[in-house]
Amino acid sequence: MGNINKSANKIIISPSILSADFTNLERDIKTVESAGADWLHIDVMDGHFVPNITIGVPVVKSIKKITNLPLDVHLMIENPEKYIEPFAKAGADILTVHYEVTGENTKNILNEIKKYNMLAGLSIKPKTKPEEIKDFIKYADLILVMTVEPGFGGQDFIRECADKLPYIKELQNDTQYLQVDGGINAATSEICKKMGANSLVAGNYIFKSLDIDSAINRLR
Ligand code: DX5
Ligand code: ZN
Repeated sequence: MGNINKSANKIIISPSILSADFTNLERDIKTVESAGADWLHIDVMDGHFVPNITIGVPVVKSIKKITNLPLDVHLMIENPEKYIEPFAKAGADILTVHYEVTGENTKNILNEIKKYNMLAGLSIKPKTKPEEIKDFIKYADLILVMTVEPGFGGQDFIRECADKLPYIKELQNDTQYLQVDGGINAATSEICKKMGANSLVAGNYIFKSLDIDSAINRLR
């Protein structure tokens, strides 16, 4: 980690490379970087916690060499504690784990992530109530509220998930991030910002757009 300004006053845009062209990944990352993206969202899936398999440590390590954007790594995996050090060494700046797998160990895992000088994120799936993570919010630099079932890009935003945002926002201080991920576009980002989100992940809306600069500007 290094270049993250811990002020959550501006809206952070984190394009999800799951929707990028993997045969032209460097080109696509540089495109969003020059279009003003703040972070780069990398979805790591293991085929167990979610039905899909995507990117792992070696790819994160390669991406680190070609971009200055902070790497916002979203772990949709079982046993995330085993992979904290490998992802730290690969260059992750933010490491987000799922409460549905960390459960009772959440505080320890978040603290372990911070020991590696990364921001520690905690995510909840659509069916997890925000009250369940109440006691852990203070240990997390970022809370990620999933607005689709994790696993795939290009799904429709689940409106009810945004209703969790004000409750979490109320328990956060102004250095903590409140992120949404899944089905984010110009319209749904407005809803989330109004309800307290200050970090927006978007895959399809950004990478499938013909004008990436204006897609990012419209989200902000
Ligand atoms: C879904 C991933 C998301 C996904 C978002 O499990 O966590 O980051 O890439 O894609 P869109 O913005 O297309 O819904
Ligand atoms: Zn994600």
